[in-house]
Amino acid sequence: MARDEAIQREWQRLFDRFEQRLRELQPASVLDVGCGRGVLVSLLCNDGILATGVDPAATGQDPQVIKADATSLPFPDSSFEWVTLRHVPHHLVDLPGALRECIRVAREGLLMAEPWFDIGDPVQQVAERWDHWWKRQHERAGDTHKPCLSLQQLVAALPAGRYDIESEHYRHVAAIPAQSIDHLSRPLLDALPEGDPDRQEYSEIEALIRERGFTYNGTLIGTVRLQEKT
Ligand SMILES: C[S@@+](CC[C@H](N)C(=O)[O-])C[C@H]1O[C@@H](n2cnc3c(N)ncnc32)[C@H](O)[C@@H]1O
Repeated sequence: MARDEAIQREWQRLFDRFEQRLRELQPASVLDVGCGRGVLVSLLCNDGILATGVDPAATGQDPQVIKADATSLPFPDSSFEWVTLRHVPHHLVDLPGALRECIRVAREGLLMAEPWFDIGDPVQQVAERWDHWWKRQHERAGDTHKPCLSLQQLVAALPAGRYDIESEHYRHVAAIPAQSIDHLSRPLLDALPEGDPDRQEYSEIEALIRERGFTYNGTLIGTVRLQEKT
């Protein structure tokens, strides 16, 4: 499904922030784990950075994007300066197994991002509640789509080793129209049986969106510099 225009704009803002942070690290080589269609990989390659992506859903059309799972990376130890995971950890069945592999193939470290809600803000509370609802429908359909992970949860999943960790929480306040959320949710809602409690939950979320509005998730970016691998 093509992204709604308002959501695409907000997605791009978060993506740009992540790309900027990565470029500040001046990487000579990057492995983007869970790279999707390889947008980041292409941007980096265009600038002469050695970039490779892996994703289990890779189609084979782009030679720089390899079909592989994060828990079994087909590269020798320390193959890439930086390994990136952008909005991937909450999709992983085995986060510690994936991070063990990412650390194994990294020389300098990991740059990770997860969607993030500023739950001190009542509007973001609505967005987080909707996010839980939306992901629950994906999980019910058999996909792995967990609630967003905190920095503490990401750090706890790292393998034993010595790391320097920096983080930033980036948010923005652009309003997303209610119809954009409806557009995303409608197919999932329509698939629910009559009387399913998630129908009622969605009605409550819709009422809250009408009352308070809706803002897109921000992003948590964590930079994990390797001091020592064990
Ligand atoms: C929300 S998308 C993020 C895509 C891209 N990183 C971005 O920033 O737009 C999550 C991606 O994680 C990938 N993914 C899911 N499970 C994975 C796994 N076990 N190993 C590697 N990637 C995985 C999915 O195929 C999907 O492309």
